[in-house]
Amino acid sequence: MMQIIAWMTSFILMLSIAVVFIWVAVKSRVRKEYDPIVKKWYKTRKVYGTGLIILMLVVTIYTLRELPYNEPVYGATEEAKVVDVEAIQFGWDIDERELEAGEPVEFRVTGADVNHGFGIYDEDMNLIQQTQAMPDYTNKVYVTFDKPGTYEILCLEYCGAGHHMMKDEIVVK
Ligand code: CUA
Repeated sequence: MMQIIAWMTSFILMLSIAVVFIWVAVKSRVRKEYDPIVKKWYKTRKVYGTGLIILMLVVTIYTLRELPYNEPVYGATEEAKVVDVEAIQFGWDIDERELEAGEPVEFRVTGADVNHGFGIYDEDMNLIQQTQAMPDYTNKVYVTFDKPGTYEILCLEYCGAGHHMMKDEIVVK
């Protein structure tokens, strides 16, 4: 669902940019007095610039509120089940591939060789959680699978010739 919204939003934005370009191209044939146009658009630019700075400040502060993103947002609890994950060229070493629905899980993700990306997809291929799998470092991510099913693990970072083969599965009962 989020991916569809993201795609539709990008599409609408691309379309609006295309419309502006076409409009400019069509209007460029019309001759007009230069000075009034400059004056008008300098003013518009000031208003637009100020508005944009304010908007970006608001969005930045708003999105930083939930840092660290990792913690209770995704259902972390004291009694989360710990599952160790190690990425190796080109596969996954996951110490528990069968999990239970409704059970909070803490994935501890690391890498044996190079940087990989640990991505968990649901059955509709929506990305539900991801983190980097890095050598000499352990990233923790939390997931509570709410539906039983087969969840796919894919590598999200190009890590060599066999990157596309880095697939695995987690079965939630
Ligand atoms: Cu591992 Cu891409």
